[in-house]
Amino acid sequence: MPLSSTTLPRLDGRTVLVTGANAGIGYWCAEILAAHGARVLLGCRSTQRAEVAASSIRAHAPGADLGIVPIDLGSLASVASAAASLDERVDAVICNAGVKAADRASRTADGLDLMVGTNALGHFALLAQLGHVLADDARVVAVGSLAHRFAEIDPETLAQPWTGASLRQYGRSKAALMALTFELNRRWRGSARAALCAHPGYAVDPLTPRRDGLAAVPGWARALASLSRPFVQGKDSGAAPVVHAAVAADATGGDYWGPGGLLEFRGAPKRVAASEQVRSTEVGRALWRVAEEMTGVRFPG
Ligand SMILES: NC(=O)c1ccc[n+]([C@@H]2O[C@H](COP(=O)([O-])OP(=O)(O)OC[C@H]3O[C@@H](n4cnc5c(N)ncnc54)[C@H](OP(=O)(O)O)[C@@H]3O)[C@@H](O)[C@H]2O)c1
Repeated sequence: MPLSSTTLPRLDGRTVLVTGANAGIGYWCAEILAAHGARVLLGCRSTQRAEVAASSIRAHAPGADLGIVPIDLGSLASVASAAASLDERVDAVICNAGVKAADRASRTADGLDLMVGTNALGHFALLAQLGHVLADDARVVAVGSLAHRFAEIDPETLAQPWTGASLRQYGRSKAALMALTFELNRRWRGSARAALCAHPGYAVDPLTPRRDGLAAVPGWARALASLSRPFVQGKDSGAAPVVHAAVAADATGGDYWGPGGLLEFRGAPKRVAASEQVRSTEVGRALWRVAEEMTGVRFPG
């Protein structure tokens, strides 16, 4: 288990849904949470990959309490049926599943920009439909990115195909997810629920401990990557700020957590700054309206 996770409290009796839990940062969030006693629901689009992840988690966290929730964040129908299938209390949701690279022309099953549709709107639709299971003091954590600063979010053009640089296309989707999450937190004010964001820094598979059936990295690539360790980190460490945001006592609604080291690429979790744009009430409100229109889903009043 990564060192940074050893300070977490025991989480027995708490249930956390992690999307994209079969690989990378989502997998490590699931393994760390399970090792601390949480019941973890693995929200994955491939049941087979979810089962491989579940057996690895059980091998490293004996007695892990796991469930699998089939969900494709790139399909609003799949999101709706995943939400409807849940019938147990959920204390926290980690919105981690994400597409980082895609052809500009790629679309979700519903014809939305693949990154905006999956990373931001898929999670918006999921959260909107979890009202029947979310605990009264539930926490929602959106996995943002340093890249949220690379793109202007324009709610009015979110539905239009992306024509700029691809890193900005990704940045736009992450900025939208973060702005919607901060807006959700504003809408939850006065309740015990909290929505916050976290980012993993710069986290790569070659610096991540081996796990059977997960990202296979050749020995030479690990050796080469070890030279970059002073600057970047493994996905186990990248998961630490995300898990911290989801369960630590000092994390609260509206926070943004990330690695505390140089350029926020690596290091132990600390509160970090998000752009003014994703924090803007005006942008959040406008995005919310567009997200409702694009998904056809509304949060319960
Ligand atoms: N790694 C970094 O340095 C970094 C930095 C900033 C932010 N992030 C964010 O952290 C999150 C995880 O990144 P990662 O590096 O761990 O990526 P990863 O190793 O590529 O894992 C991505 C996960 O998302 C899942 N996923 C993708 N599209 C999905 C869909 N339509 N429905 C359900 N699940 C889907 C993948 O499932 P499949 O196996 O089925 O594809 C996989 O489980 C992403 O949101 C990413 O934007 C990462």
